Parts: sequence; structure tokens; C-alpha cells
Amino acid sequence: MDSPRLLFVTTTKEKKSPELQSWTRGLHQVLCMQGGDDDGSYAKNSEAPASAIALSKPLLIEAITSMKLFDKESSIRIADLGCATGHNTLSTVELLVHSLKERYKKEKDYMPEFEVFFSDLPSNDFNSLFRSLLSSCDASKMPYYFSGVPGSFYDRLFPNGKLHLAVSLSALHWLSRVPEEVLDKKLPAWNNGRAWIDGAKKEVVDAYAKQSSEDLLAFLNCRKKEIVEGGMLFLLMAGRPDSQRPENQLGDPDSRAKHPFTSSMDQAWKDLLDEGLIDEEMRDTFNIPAYMRSTEEVRRAFDHCGAFEIKRLEFLRIVEHSKEKQAEWIKDPVSYGRAKANLVRATLKPIVKAHLGSLLSEVLFKRFEKRVSQDISMLEKTCFYGLIVVCAIRK
Ligand SMILES: C[S@@+](CC[C@H](N)C(=O)[O-])C[C@H]1O[C@@H](n2cnc3c(N)ncnc32)[C@H](O)[C@@H]1O
Repeated sequence: MDSPRLLFVTTTKEKKSPELQSWTRGLHQVLCMQGGDDDGSYAKNSEAPASAIALSKPLLIEAITSMKLFDKESSIRIADLGCATGHNTLSTVELLVHSLKERYKKEKDYMPEFEVFFSDLPSNDFNSLFRSLLSSCDASKMPYYFSGVPGSFYDRLFPNGKLHLAVSLSALHWLSRVPEEVLDKKLPAWNNGRAWIDGAKKEVVDAYAKQSSEDLLAFLNCRKKEIVEGGMLFLLMAGRPDSQRPENQLGDPDSRAKHPFTSSMDQAWKDLLDEGLIDEEMRDTFNIPAYMRSTEEVRRAFDHCGAFEIKRLEFLRIVEHSKEKQAEWIKDPVSYGRAKANLVRATLKPIVKAHLGSLLSEVLFKRFEKRVSQDISMLEKTCFYGLIVVCAIRK
């Protein structure tokens, strides 16, 4: 049986032992989307990122069409940062390589080779990614060379001037860590009884916002060194409208209440507490390391970095799920609960499991499933996800 907490957080600094890494500092070792291809895997639950990519596809194509074509380069090097495992990644890369090849064919008298670097945290299921990549195409016909680059995109991943194009899709809203102060019951920023920032008090919100701005700047400073002059950075991340303050992470009140990181998640943790399966410390030392930025916050980070010219910076909205799906789920709320729980497993299971162990994390997802399927009134609401798209050129 798993130990109840593989990675635990102590509430006092003195108690932290070196071998049991703090939750916040060891996050990059466990954060990833759930691998494999079962019902709770990321590969089977990446509909929202797929819709995000579909919505931003015209912008991506426009970006590629306007991108500088590099002469005298034996290969054009592309990185997908936060690639995960599923089809989204593969179809995006295929689109990038295909569009660039078409442009070289039309506009230049030579065709460079293409190299793609699939990059994600070391805990990502690279095996599944490479298996699906190789099964999708005969190796001798692959239109590009590829390799995996494990590491955090908040650190350097490539040598100076290595990349011509870097994309990061639906990944940058994941922070490098949970701000430590939100987990410490002795501090004013303690996020008591909540798993996330939405609706939290000012101190919690400030701590998350500070972490987010440090992280985005760190990301840009790394890419500043890695992308060649004239190269392109294309980012798509979950975001919030400029009109919303950071404590309103998700736009309108219904979308906020229905989001899987908010009320049902907090209720599920409370269920575990009420059933005596965990204590308060166990609950309150878990927080979700995600932050939805506004376009203003994104622009500020680019201005601070100073190495990129922003060509496009936009906020977009996507409907959470189709009308048909909604009608189907209204008839069968249990299957809605199951679908939402699978989505949460796909995105949070590795970090919840690292905190609670396998058995208790499964109990948490089951309680979440029940809470969601009982919340019929929310099921009838049409909700939205916010997205931020940025296209920038390395100056
Ligand atoms: C929601 S998935 C998106 C995957 C894929 N790009 C897509 O659009 O379907 C987010 C990915 O970002 C990765 N990620 C989160 N933080 C990261 C970091 N600091 N460095 C690299 N990858 C990170 C996660 O491991 C996960 O695979």
C-alpha cells in the first residue's frame, strides 16, 4: 500500500526533512498529466485543450505564414513546451511542419530538414507519446526528426540560439510551484479550506499572482536565450478576462462555480475530512498550482523581459462543452460526474496521489464525482473557459 503522503508538507519550516521534499519545491517531480490511455488519462480527456487549439488554429497558421524563413540553416528547429502525451501535440506539430515546408517550397530554392523537440516535465509519459508518434507514421516517412527534452520550461532547456520556433499550448497556467505561504497556517496567506485561489482572500491571491509573474518572466528569460533573432514564440494558455480581478479566475460566476477546481473540489476534500480519512493539515497542505493570467499581466511580463516584440495578444473564450453533450448529461448526471472526475484525474491525479497516496486519492476523486453529479443546477448552465493567445518575435 502507498504511504499516505509520498511528498508531504510540514507547516513549520524546521520540520521539513530533506528526503521528504516539500510539496512546493518538489512539484516539478510529480506534476504531469495522467499518462497511459485509460478513461482517466490525459490522452482521453484532452477535449478542452483540443478545443483551445482548434480555436487558436487560424492564429497559429497566421503566425507561421508571417514568420521569417531562415536561410542557410541545415535544419529548422521547433520546440513544443509542455507537450503531454495526446493527439493535440502531434496534430499541432504536424501542422507547423507542414505549413513551414509549404512556405519553403514556394518561397525558397532549398528545403531544410526539420527537427522537433517534445518537451515536458520528467514525469510526463514520454513513452506513450513516442509510441503514438511512431504508430501514426512509418518511421522512414516521418516528415521531421524528433526527440524528447525532459525538464521544466521555467528553466533553460536548450543551448543559446537553438530554436527557430517555440510553442507552448495549454501549459503555462501551471505554475512552477504552489506559493509556500498559502500552505502555512501561521501566515496570513494560509488558504484554509480551499484547494485553489478562486474566491480566496487577498493575501492568497497576492501570493499566487506574485508566483505567476515570477514564473512567466523566468519562462521568457529562458526563451530569450534559446530562440534565435527573428524566431517565433507562440503561446496559448488558460487565462481570464482583463475585467476580472485575479480572485475571479474564471470569468462569469457560473463558470467559476462549475469549474472542476472550485466548489466540488473543496467539497470533496471536506468529505474526506468529515469522514475522518484525513486531518485538516493534510487537506490544507494541498493546493492546485495553476493561475489564470489576464492579458495585462502577460503584457507586463513581456515588457519586463524586453526581448520579444508582441505581434498578437488576445483573450478568447471557449464553451466548456457542446450543447449535445450537455443535453446528454442532463439526462444522465451520473455519467456527467464520471466524465468530470476523469477530467480531474487526467490533470490532477499525479499531484493528488503524491500528496494522499493511491487509495485516498481515488476516494477523493469518487467523492468529487458524487458531488458533481448531484449538482444538477450547475449542469444546466453553459460555462466557458478563457484563453490567452500570444504570438511574439524574438528581437
Ligand atoms: C494541459 S497539458 C497540455 C498538453 C498539450 N500541449 C495539449 O495542448 O494538449 C499541460 C502540460 O504542461 C506540462 N507542464 C506543466 N508545467 C510544466 C513545466 N514547468 N515545464 C514543462 N511542462 C510543464 C504538464 O506536464 C502537461 O503535460
